[in-house]
Amino acid sequence: MATAKLKVKDSSYHAELDAAERASRDEIMALQTRRLAWSLKHAYDNVAHYKKAFDAAGVHPSDFKQLSDLAKFPFTVKTDLRDNYPFNMFAVPREQMVRVHASSGTTGKPIVVGYTRADIDTWADVMARSIRAAGGRTGMLMHNAYGYGLFTGGLGAHYGAERLGCTVVPISGGMTERQVQIINDFKPDIITVTPSYMLAILDEFKRQGLDPRKSSLKFGIFGAEPWTNAMRVEIEQAFDMDATDIYGLSEVIGPGVAQECVETKDGLHIWEDHFYPEVIDPVTGAVLPDGEKGELVFTSLTKEAFPIIRYRTRDLTRLLPGTARPGMRRMEKVTGRSDDMIILRGVNVFPTQIEEALLATDWCGGHFIIELTREGRMDEMTVLAEARPESWDGSGLVAHADKVAAFIKNTIGITAVVKAVAPETLERSLGKAKRVYDKRPKA
Ligand code: DLL
Repeated sequence: MATAKLKVKDSSYHAELDAAERASRDEIMALQTRRLAWSLKHAYDNVAHYKKAFDAAGVHPSDFKQLSDLAKFPFTVKTDLRDNYPFNMFAVPREQMVRVHASSGTTGKPIVVGYTRADIDTWADVMARSIRAAGGRTGMLMHNAYGYGLFTGGLGAHYGAERLGCTVVPISGGMTERQVQIINDFKPDIITVTPSYMLAILDEFKRQGLDPRKSSLKFGIFGAEPWTNAMRVEIEQAFDMDATDIYGLSEVIGPGVAQECVETKDGLHIWEDHFYPEVIDPVTGAVLPDGEKGELVFTSLTKEAFPIIRYRTRDLTRLLPGTARPGMRRMEKVTGRSDDMIILRGVNVFPTQIEEALLATDWCGGHFIIELTREGRMDEMTVLAEARPESWDGSGLVAHADKVAAFIKNTIGITAVVKAVAPETLERSLGKAKRVYDKRPKA
C-alpha cells in the first residue's frame, strides 16, 4: 500500500521510549499480574457494584493468581455504568477527583467517568507516548481539533502533548475556515482530529485555493471513530503526511489506550502496562485466543477513581503480537462496533466496508452516508456518496455509482443503491461522523 514517507527518523528515538515500551513480553506479563491483583481488590473493596457482581459470580479478588484467572470474573457492560449514574462507580470520594468526563452515548443518560490527580498523570503519560509513537517530538507544535469539554478527546490529547513537551493549539472542533487559517499561520507539525473532520478540513483547504500538500503538517493522529486504510491513503496523499490510528474510550481512560506506531503502521499497540485487553466471543463470552476476531474487553490496571473490570467495549478486533513495541500486543484496526453492524437481508455489513468500496473509486473522496428504509417487507440500503468537485459534472455519475453498487454486491454480497451526490451536499461532522440513518419503521 502506498503511504507517505516518514519524515522523522531520529536515531535517539528508542532511547526516549518509556521503560514499559522497551520491556519484554515476560516483564509486561509479570507487571500485569501484579497490577491486576491490585485493581481487582481496589474495585471490590471500594465500589459496591463490583462487590455485588463478584459475590454473585462466586469469585473473590484473592482467587486471582495468574492472568488466565481473570476469565473467572464477571464482565461489566454499559448498562452497569448507566445504572450507577452519575457517581456510584467511583472508588474514591468525589472530593479526591480532579476531573470528570462523560460520553454522550446515543440513547439515555451519559456515562460519567472520573479521575484522581494520579489518573490524570497516567493519562497524560499514555497520551504523550501515543503522540511520540505517531511521530511527535518535544518542541513540535500540535493543532488539537478534538472537541474540548465532556468528550475526552480534546483534553486527553492536550495533556499528553504538554507532557511530551509540545506546544498545543487548543482549537477544538468546528469553525473549519478558521482551522485552515490557523494551520496556515501557526504552521503545526501535528494535527489531532477525527478522520471524518480531517476530510472537512481538506475540503476547506481546496475551497480557499490552498495546496494541502504544502501545509506544514507532518503527522496526523486520527481516531474516535472507525476509519479504513483506504482513508489513510486518501489523507496521507492529500496532505503529504503520515497518518496513524489512535484508539480509546472514556470508560477505559479516553484517547491513548492504543496507538499505531508511525514506523510500522500495522495496527495499534495497546499500552498494556495500564490496560489489559481480552477478546471474547460476543455470544458465549468465552475468551478467544490471540489472532481470533471478537469483542474487545478491557480491564484497567492502575486507575484509582474509576477502576473498570472486564468492560465489554462492543468494538470488534483481534489481538496480534507486538512489532514496534515487542512487549505489548497490537489490536487490529477496529472495523466497527457490534452496534454499528447493519444486517441487511441476513448479510452483515459495516459502514467501513462501504467506505473502502467508495474510496476505491476516483470520484468519491470519502464523504458518505447510508440510509436504511423498508419497502414492504424488504429492507433497502441506499448509499449517498459525495463526488469530488473535480469529478462532478452535474449528471449524477450514474454509471460510476452503478459500478460501486456492483462492486458491493460482488465483494460484500448485498444489494445497495448507490447515488452520487454533488460536492458539499452532505452534512459535515465536527467530531464523530454519523454514517447510518435508519429510517425503517420501528417494530
Ligand atoms: O472516542 C476517545 C477518543 C478520542 C479516542 C480521540 C481517540 C481519539 P468515546 O467517546 O468514549 O471515547 O468513544 C469510544 O469510539 O468504543 C470505539 O467504538 C470508537 N473509537 C475510538 N477510537 C477509535 C478508533 C473516544 N481509532 C468509542 N477506531 C470506542 C475505531 C474508535 N473506533
